[in-house]
Amino acid sequence: MIELGVNIDHVATLRQARRTVEPDPVWGAVLAELGGADGITVHLREDRRHINDRDITLLRETVRCKLNMEMAAIGEITEIACKIKPDQVTLVPERREEITTEGGLYVTDQFDNIQKIIKRLQESGIVVSLFLDPDNSQIDAGIKTGCNAIEIHTGRYANAKDQKSVSDELLRIINAGKIITDAGLRLHAGHGLTYHNVIPIAKIPNMAELNIGHSIIARSIMVGLKEAVREMKKLLTIQ
Ligand code: PXP
Repeated sequence: MIELGVNIDHVATLRQARRTVEPDPVWGAVLAELGGADGITVHLREDRRHINDRDITLLRETVRCKLNMEMAAIGEITEIACKIKPDQVTLVPERREEITTEGGLYVTDQFDNIQKIIKRLQESGIVVSLFLDPDNSQIDAGIKTGCNAIEIHTGRYANAKDQKSVSDELLRIINAGKIITDAGLRLHAGHGLTYHNVIPIAKIPNMAELNIGHSIIARSIMVGLKEAVREMKKLLTIQ
C-alpha cells in the first residue's frame, strides 16, 4: 500500500492571510489523520510564511502517524528538526520569492553540506528524504549522500500541457524511480498531484509514499463549504 502524506501548509497559508488563529493546521492534521492519512507533511520555511514554530511543536505532540518535516538544508532549521524530532525530514530547496517549491534540490552544487546535514539528522534518529527532479545526475548524486529516500518532484509532469509531454515526463519519473529503488532507497513522489493525474504516478513500481497538499485542501473547501454555510444559517435562525 502506498502511504499518503497530506501536506497541510495550505491550511496555515489561509490562517496567515488574516494573521488570525483559524484555520488551525493542527486541527487540519487531526482531520487528515482521521481521514486515513499515513503522514502529515509540513514545511517549516526560514521566513515562517505559513507553518510556524508553535505549529511544528504542537504537531509533534499530536500527530500519531508519520510527521514529515520539509526544510531547507541550513543549520538553523536543522537544529530545530533535531530538537523536534519529526519521523522524517525531506530536504527541499527554498527561495524566498517562490510561491511553492519550484524545483528539486541541486545536490551536485552542495554535496558536502547536504551530506553533513543528513548525517546530523540521522544521528538524531530522523529518516531523511531528498526532494529531487527526475534528473539522472541529481538522482545519482542524491543516492551517494547516504539519504534513506528520494522524493521525485512531479511538478513538470503535473504542469505538462499535451499528451506527449505528459508521457515524456512520466517516463522520466519511472526511470528515475527505478534507479532509486535499485539503489535500495525508498521511492517517494509529490508536487502538483491531483485527483486527475495521480494514478499513473501511484502505479509506478515500488512507489512507497506520495505527498499531496494543494489538491486535497482545495477539495476540502469544496466538499465542506455547503455544510459550513448550513451551520451559519442555522445559527442565524436560532437568534
Ligand atoms: N512534496 C514536497 C517536497 C513539497 O515541497 C510539496 C509542496 O509543499 C508537496 C510535496 C506537495 O505539493 P502540492 O501542494 O502541489 O500537492
